[in-house]
Amino acid sequence: MTAAAEREWWRSAVVYQIYPRSFADSDGDGIGDLPGIVDRLDYLHRLGVDVVWLSPVYASPQDDNGYDISDYYAIDPVFGTLDDLDRLIDGLHRRGMKLMLDMVVNHTSDEHPWFVEARDPASPKRDWYWWRPPAADGGPPYNWASVFSGSAWTLDERSGEYYLHLYGAKQPDLNWENPGVRQAMHRMMRWWADRGVDGLRLDAINLIAKADEFADGPTPPGSSYGIPWDLVAYGPRLDQFLAELHREVGFTERKLITVGETAGVTIEQARRLTDPARRELGMVFTFDHLDLDQKAVGAKWDLAEVELPLLKRAFARWQDGLAGVGWNSLYWNNHDQPRVVSRFGDDSAEHRVVSAKTLATVLHLHQGTPYVYQGEELGMTNTAYTEIGHYRDLESLNFYRDGLDRGLSEEALLRSLAGRSRDNARAPMHWDDSPQAGFSDGTPWIGVNPNHVIINALAAEADPDSVFHYYRKLIMLRHAEPVIVHGRFELLLPDHDQLWAFTRTLDQDRLLVIANCSSVPAPLPAEGLPGGTGTTTMISTHGEPEAGQLRPWESAVLRLAPPAPPHQLS
Ligand code: GLC
Repeated sequence: MTAAAEREWWRSAVVYQIYPRSFADSDGDGIGDLPGIVDRLDYLHRLGVDVVWLSPVYASPQDDNGYDISDYYAIDPVFGTLDDLDRLIDGLHRRGMKLMLDMVVNHTSDEHPWFVEARDPASPKRDWYWWRPPAADGGPPYNWASVFSGSAWTLDERSGEYYLHLYGAKQPDLNWENPGVRQAMHRMMRWWADRGVDGLRLDAINLIAKADEFADGPTPPGSSYGIPWDLVAYGPRLDQFLAELHREVGFTERKLITVGETAGVTIEQARRLTDPARRELGMVFTFDHLDLDQKAVGAKWDLAEVELPLLKRAFARWQDGLAGVGWNSLYWNNHDQPRVVSRFGDDSAEHRVVSAKTLATVLHLHQGTPYVYQGEELGMTNTAYTEIGHYRDLESLNFYRDGLDRGLSEEALLRSLAGRSRDNARAPMHWDDSPQAGFSDGTPWIGVNPNHVIINALAAEADPDSVFHYYRKLIMLRHAEPVIVHGRFELLLPDHDQLWAFTRTLDQDRLLVIANCSSVPAPLPAEGLPGGTGTTTMISTHGEPEAGQLRPWESAVLRLAPPAPPHQLS
């Protein structure tokens, strides 16, 4: 293996995300924990994933389920102890897997000692956060909206100044312009890497560099708040901060897998962020494909049907955009997104399994590092919550309260929540068909989906045709076939509204991926697909394809015979 290939081992890896609160509860308190994860490592090993990304387990008031950290060096007792984390690292390493921790460094909890200290205007920590005097009317200094509804500025009585929180009021933004903040973060990440952690997922990392000057943001129709995107994201020193972080933590020397969460990233920005020569990040999470089933970008709660040509093109643009320069991450799901089989597939009894497999086929056959979110490998669906009391997520609850204030009907709000709430992903993992799905012996912190009696890991592992075994095969294929990791990508039939087709090519090796992304049969067009004989099916949802059409949600990956050598002139 070349030195670069060894350093960039994560290019052929598959990552599995665990949301610890909802994965496995070992002590019956209704909340998942680290010992629960340790007990399930053989399951992950059987699935074949290489890396586990663990959502935050640090000490936290849990206002945003751990994305509000009050001590970066401690494990929250609800999840276990540092010894448990060491056991997790060890258990993963012994099975040839690695651990990626979630680093929430754009903000802390307001209960972090730094912020407690910073409330005193005379404290040296004051400048570690963003403070501004009130506007002339005593209100917030700027009209900025928080991602979680309401103003992004909250008054602190002690000094009479406002502090910035782009997320919840208990998540004050850190001021990365202050070198003390940056050094504290470098030190903390080195400490975790020294402990055996192999990678970092950098939460909301596009927000750490803000503009030099603040001002009001443009106000969208119907809103009293402005969206100050240009002022809070991708500020002038983002590349500098990331290059410094890379160097000071030793991303390259330690061969860490790193991924930045970068909502709204452009291809040009992502090329800079992920170009190995610039030594910033390994890859970033892009969001274009998740902005398509809503009425406008940023209008997350205004549900709309996705148009397949737009979805395919969103992926293709990123494949072309980063080819030969940076690296893509590939994902349908995470702890912030609804379940893909309900979102872009068909979660009816008839099509759930095949549509989950087909969505996996297209995702995993692109170039990039695929991420699987817990339960996605079972084809888990959105939840069945029907009243506001079923929801737990801060963002969802704020949206609901805000919507009622704005005069929206409860019915419309519940419809948006059913389609979009982050709690769709956060319902407990389905291990078996017992009353709490094998997740907990106590009362789960959030309701279990009743469909766990059918959709669960025990049943899936026992059924060779399950979504689980299909994911396992896709993961094995990626490990075995360099063309899947490195091959050139070409989108076919870009305007077709049922078929998603593309090729991957590495030297003489060429794969055709073809998928019917609809619940009705799709006749194959006479033109636009590579013809010829001598194809081998590498994986498919329905066995051998029928001539002339794909069945509902059928997909296959075919290896095309190499072109015949040119005739020798004698
Ligand atoms: C990221 C996380 C999300 C969290 C937010 C604030 O978007 O993925 O879960 O609420 O950052 O930390």
